[in-house]
Amino acid sequence: MRYLDEVCHSTTMSGNGDFTKKCHKFFEEKYGFKKVLLCTSGTDALEMCAMLCDLKPGDEVIVPSYTFVSTALAFLREGAKVVFADSGKDNPNISVDDIKPLVNEHTKVISVVHYAGIACDMDAIMDFAKSRGLLVVEDAAHSIDSYYKGRPLGGIGHLGAFSFHETKNISSGEGGMLVVNDERFIRRAEIIWEKGTNRAEFYRGMVNKYGWCDMGSSFLPSEFNAAYLWAQLEQIQDIQGKRVAIWNTYDKFLRGNLNNGIVIPDIPAYATNNAHMYYLLCPSLKYRTAFMEYLKEHGVISTFHYLPLHSSSYYKDKHDGRELPNCDRYGDCLVRLPLYYELDLDDVEKIAKLILDFKRNESF
Ligand SMILES: Cc1ncc(COP(=O)(O)O)c(C=O)c1O
Repeated sequence: MRYLDEVCHSTTMSGNGDFTKKCHKFFEEKYGFKKVLLCTSGTDALEMCAMLCDLKPGDEVIVPSYTFVSTALAFLREGAKVVFADSGKDNPNISVDDIKPLVNEHTKVISVVHYAGIACDMDAIMDFAKSRGLLVVEDAAHSIDSYYKGRPLGGIGHLGAFSFHETKNISSGEGGMLVVNDERFIRRAEIIWEKGTNRAEFYRGMVNKYGWCDMGSSFLPSEFNAAYLWAQLEQIQDIQGKRVAIWNTYDKFLRGNLNNGIVIPDIPAYATNNAHMYYLLCPSLKYRTAFMEYLKEHGVISTFHYLPLHSSSYYKDKHDGRELPNCDRYGDCLVRLPLYYELDLDDVEKIAKLILDFKRNESF
């Protein structure tokens, strides 16, 4: 509240003020990101990525089907054709094996999602992209403070996008961040961010007036959002520590102890776990419905997502008809358990015990 009050009494309530700059500095210093720009949402950060990729009609972008709409929508709005990749068998991420068969002379971009903050195998994807001259955009919406072989997620592809929506580990209500890892894009990113003008250069005293130089939009969040975010960045270790403790408590009780057909995916050795999500895989949609109902009857609200994009009402006629069975399985079978900062570890234990007691019904 103190920081919000400070903004109320400051001369800058719009974007790119002191709190925005503090947040930028934090992310650039802590994670070594070359250039970051806070945005009004993860969707906006992805839209900026898509604009920076400079797509032309007929260009193709490979995107997982098992993701939030924005991962695909951002590229579609730029006139590209979205080609959906299936997820892996072991977790919802896409791998180079899923991507390779989809690449042709029209492919320009691969957009990966690090599902639940668990890294895709980025070395293989980056090597392949390099060999074919493709850009890589990391949808790191879930991935704050998560790493691949010691490198922070969002900082590996050419561009990265984070979300600070209220469902994420750190949040500004609605919010997001563009990460520019390839220097070629830095100047244009700032211009797109500032409604197509070079106002950021003007504020730095690099030009004596600013004007319209390119496409753009109003992607900057206000100082209120940045101040709210800053308060959490100051506490990020505590927030992450608490989330990891909750995740570990679920895991301690559940992993290796479930004999009711529910599966807990493994975390690959190359990935860290930022405790964004604790999720389980049920054997079928019918099973998941019954399982979630059982939890609800015991006062526990679990959730599911995503509805596969390739078979969505908006895209199914545009999709090329390929079956994406792993994506469908996650769409039908994945359940997210409660995981939020205020959740008590005793309650986590109670939820885990409820899950262990769920009896498998053979008709599922
Ligand atoms: C994988 C993924 N990408 C992008 C987004 C969009 O982020 P935002 O809600 O901040 O626009 C989300 C939102 O949950 C997401 O889960």
